[in-house]
Amino acid sequence: MGAQESNEQARGTGRRAVLGAAVLGTGGAVLGLPGTARAGTRHGGGGVKSLPVPTIIGHRGASGYRPEHTFGSYELALDMGAHVVEAGDLVPTRDGHIVCRHEPEIGGTTDVADHPEFAGRKTTKVLDGVSVTGWFTEDFTLAELKTLRAIERIPDNRPHNKLYDGRWEIPTFEEVLQWQDEQTRKRGKQVWIYPETKHPTYFRKLGLGLEERVADMLRTYGKDRKNSPVILQSFEPSSIQRLNKLVGNPLAVLLSGPTTRPWDFVEAGDPRTVADLVKPEGLKWIASYANGIGPTLDLIIPRDASGNLTRPTTLVEDAHAAGLILHPWTLRNENPFLPANFRKGTGADAYGDVFGAYQAYFATGIDGVFTDQPDTGLLAREDFVNG
Ligand code: G3P
Ligand code: CA
Repeated sequence: MGAQESNEQARGTGRRAVLGAAVLGTGGAVLGLPGTARAGTRHGGGGVKSLPVPTIIGHRGASGYRPEHTFGSYELALDMGAHVVEAGDLVPTRDGHIVCRHEPEIGGTTDVADHPEFAGRKTTKVLDGVSVTGWFTEDFTLAELKTLRAIERIPDNRPHNKLYDGRWEIPTFEEVLQWQDEQTRKRGKQVWIYPETKHPTYFRKLGLGLEERVADMLRTYGKDRKNSPVILQSFEPSSIQRLNKLVGNPLAVLLSGPTTRPWDFVEAGDPRTVADLVKPEGLKWIASYANGIGPTLDLIIPRDASGNLTRPTTLVEDAHAAGLILHPWTLRNENPFLPANFRKGTGADAYGDVFGAYQAYFATGIDGVFTDQPDTGLLAREDFVNG
C-alpha cells in the first residue's frame, strides 16, 4: 500500500562459506537456550545471531499452501522446518486488540463480504495516500472479527488453497505468543516469530498506536529482550525507532523499491527515499537503532525492463559493513512472482525455476529470505550450503 510495493496481485505469467550452517542443518535455536551461541553460524552469538544462515522465514506462515496469517499456515511452516515464522503482520481492532492481517482491509483475506450484518461497514478510506474500498479492522471489535474466517488472497495463483477457505479464524497477537510457547514445548525446539507493525502512522492518527500495544504484549509474555525469539519489523523507520525505545528485541527496517518513501517520511516531510536509505550513510543511520534490513529482492539484484535479473547491487556488502543483517522478501514458486528468466511457461499457478532464483540470491550473501513456500526454500538452502 502507498509507498510500499505490493507484488502479490500478479495473475499472468561464488557460493558463500556457511559450513557451520550446513553442518547444523535447519534446526533453529536450542529449546530454552535462545541466547546460546551456535557454533558455525555466521553471526556466532546469541539471540538472532544463533539462527542458521541463510535463514528461511515462512512468509505469513506457509502461505503458498494455506490462507495467509492463520494458524494453519503458521503451523505448516513449522512442520516444513521454517527457521522463523512471520506471525504475523499486525493491525489493531476498534477496541485496541492486535490481530494478524497483512493490511487493515480484510475483504481480500476473509469472508466478511458474506456477512450481511457487516455490509454497512464497507467503506472507502485513504490509506497511506491510496484510496481503498472494503472493510477495515479498525472498524470492528475483536469479537466481531472472530466471527469471520480466512480465505485465500490469490486464488488465481493458488487455486488449491481455496480448499481451506473458511477453516481458520483471524489470530490475535496474544494468541500467537501463546502458540509460540506451545509449539516450542511440543516440538522441543525454540520457535521464532517475526511480527511486523503495519501502517503504524495511519493507526497512530486513529488513536490506535501499535508499538506500545505490541511492547506491552511482549513484556507480558517475557519476550521483550535482546535474546527473545521475536524479531520485529516495519516499513516505517519511526515505528522501529519507537520500538527500539520500548523493547530490546532485534529490529529490522523494511525497504521497498528505490523510488519509494516510507509513509512516515511522507507525513513528516522527510525527503529521503529508499534509494537514500540504502546508501552507506542511510544504512549507518538505520544501524543506529536497528539490527537489520528487509529489502525487496529487487534491491539485491535489480531486474531489467524485461523482468530478468541483472547484476547484484552492493547492498549486501554495504549493509554488512554497517553491521546490519539482510532478510529480503519474497521468494514464491509461482511464475508471475519470479524474475522473467526463471519462469517456465505462462501458467499463473505454474511453478518456475525457483531453485535457480534461490541460488542467484543466496550467492549475494543475504542472511536469509522470506518465502511463501518454506519447504522449497529449505531444499534450495541445502543445495546452496552443500555446494
Ligand atoms: O515483512 C517482509 C515482507 O513480508 C514485507 O512485505 O508486504 O508481505 O508484508 P509484506
Ligand atoms: Ca510482512
